[in-house]
Amino acid sequence: MNIPFLDMAPMHKSVQADMQAAFEKVYNSNWFVMGGQLKGFETEYSQLTKVNHTVGVSNGLDSLIIALRVLEIGPGDEVIIPSNTYIATALAVSAVGAMPVLVEPSIVTYNLNPALIEEAITPSTKAIMPVHLYGQACEMDAIMRIAKRHNLFVVEDNAQAHLAAYNSVYTGSFGDINGVSFYPGKNLGALGDGGAITTNNDELAQKAEIYRNYGSAKKYYNDVLGANMRLDEMQAAFLRVKLKHLEQWTEERRTIASWYNQQLAGVGDLILPTLHPKATHSYHLYVIRTERRQALQDHLTQSGIGSLIHYPVPIHEQKAYPKGSLKYSSMKIATELAQTVVSLPLWVGMTQDQVSQVSNSIKEFFKG
Ligand SMILES: Cc1ncc(COP(=O)(O)O)c(C=O)c1O
Repeated sequence: MNIPFLDMAPMHKSVQADMQAAFEKVYNSNWFVMGGQLKGFETEYSQLTKVNHTVGVSNGLDSLIIALRVLEIGPGDEVIIPSNTYIATALAVSAVGAMPVLVEPSIVTYNLNPALIEEAITPSTKAIMPVHLYGQACEMDAIMRIAKRHNLFVVEDNAQAHLAAYNSVYTGSFGDINGVSFYPGKNLGALGDGGAITTNNDELAQKAEIYRNYGSAKKYYNDVLGANMRLDEMQAAFLRVKLKHLEQWTEERRTIASWYNQQLAGVGDLILPTLHPKATHSYHLYVIRTERRQALQDHLTQSGIGSLIHYPVPIHEQKAYPKGSLKYSSMKIATELAQTVVSLPLWVGMTQDQVSQVSNSIKEFFKG
């Protein structure tokens, strides 16, 4: 039986009736933008993730752009990001005209290495943007300490780590202002694009609310140069349905990851996900490493098993970023990760049998 990289059908079947009711409700209300569903979702997401404010926006990339805009970061400023993140983190910095400064991750957790941050700080540095990559929380105590010492803002890129925590505090609530994505394949996904700002800062929350809505707090009165970056009512209503299941779904992801951990321990040269002792992982992705990545992927494909690489081309090798458009001193670990990582199938509703099938295929490959 084929096993795709991602199958959203079991999750979506389990909430189908509630999703259809949510659709009907919005449809019959004839109110599609900036209404009660958005307000309701913002309140419920804040409650669940223990943050003071959630501001629903159009997508994860826009959430990061808004965060940087309201912090007034722009041309001449530098923002520290990890060298091995999804390109959206860098795009947000470039979108506001600032310079992305790439700092290498820990080879153990794949998250920004706090020990390397201070050497990248210059008088132009304005913010650190840690990314909770694949779903594991970054070392937020060390990052917050460095930011405080150098008077820098922290903007968490929380696109992949809904309900992950560091020291029992949820990601998305450490930084001054943070972004999250509700892209359909994310752990909490809309049925289209979606995202949000999360913050404990009242003033920044208000600025973000105004920015996403044409820079306007009162209709037809525009106080700042804003944008149309809103989360619509239909997506907010769908997200409210799914939000009720997010804790349970996150636990299910952890169980699936634990099955892989058991079955793949000691197999070939595989390096399995490693948790920082104070961090939890929401397993948006289950990422392993091997020197024989291409051959393993070919073998999985032949066995009808999907896999993906997150991410095959490091940011500094992307055509979008020619020489001079980024700052970095080393890209050694980012390059190594791009050559060795592979993500295995993991989705809500995946069975232990399916995990065994993937694991057995991998064992077979390394035996052969
Ligand atoms: C780390 C990271 N940051 C930002 C984004 C951007 O989110 P979106 O796709 O909602 O724009 C993503 C999602 O793809 C991501 O993985």
